[in-house]
Amino acid sequence: MRGILVATSPEGVIGKNNTIPWYYSEDLKRFKRLTIGKTVIMGRNTWESLPIKPLPERRNIVITRSSLEEVECFRSIDEAVETCEGDIWFIGGAGIYKEAMDLADCIDMTLVPDSVTGENCIYFPKIGNEWKGSEKKPLESGSKLLHRIYTRRV
Ligand SMILES: NC(=O)c1ccc[n+]([C@@H]2O[C@H](COP(=O)([O-])OP(=O)(O)OC[C@H]3O[C@@H](n4cnc5c(N)ncnc54)[C@H](OP(=O)(O)O)[C@@H]3O)[C@@H](O)[C@H]2O)c1
Repeated sequence: MRGILVATSPEGVIGKNNTIPWYYSEDLKRFKRLTIGKTVIMGRNTWESLPIKPLPERRNIVITRSSLEEVECFRSIDEAVETCEGDIWFIGGAGIYKEAMDLADCIDMTLVPDSVTGENCIYFPKIGNEWKGSEKKPLESGSKLLHRIYTRRV
């Protein structure tokens, strides 16, 4: 399994000022549950934005043209993926999501209700016709968050 894991605002925003401009513990708990024991691949900005790094109990991989001493780095997603065994989650940001769309089997998307606009917004890339989205359903019963999974059209 190679999946894209993302939460977006109604405008398709994933981040602003190198942070995620909302907080939902149910989303964070789900992120942890899905990624524990797996490989997570992220861009350098996302790495820098993490309050706790590395993400514990996961293989953390950062894509960067530089090299960081404190974490495993690769210069391209392809190079990183070649070294991976087992499940991979691509966890952002925008450039990683865009490239990972050619490699991923699914896009696991949480939709938060918070409207985010203005300068320095980072957006999820356009989802092409090769992807088919499931119906939106509450993330949990009674949740304000919705969830949908995109899979590749056959
Ligand atoms: N809502 C969500 O689910 C979610 C998830 C993750 C992140 N975020 C948010 O998204 C924002 C960060 O995203 P971002 O798009 O600004 O940055 P990013 O993708 O995390 O990092 C960008 C950097 O990663 C490296 N990189 C990315 N793609 C590359 C490639 N194909 N080849 C080589 N290097 C590559 C480059 O680093 P170098 O410059 O070092 O070469 C690039 O400058 C933050 O606000 C974060 O909080 C949101």
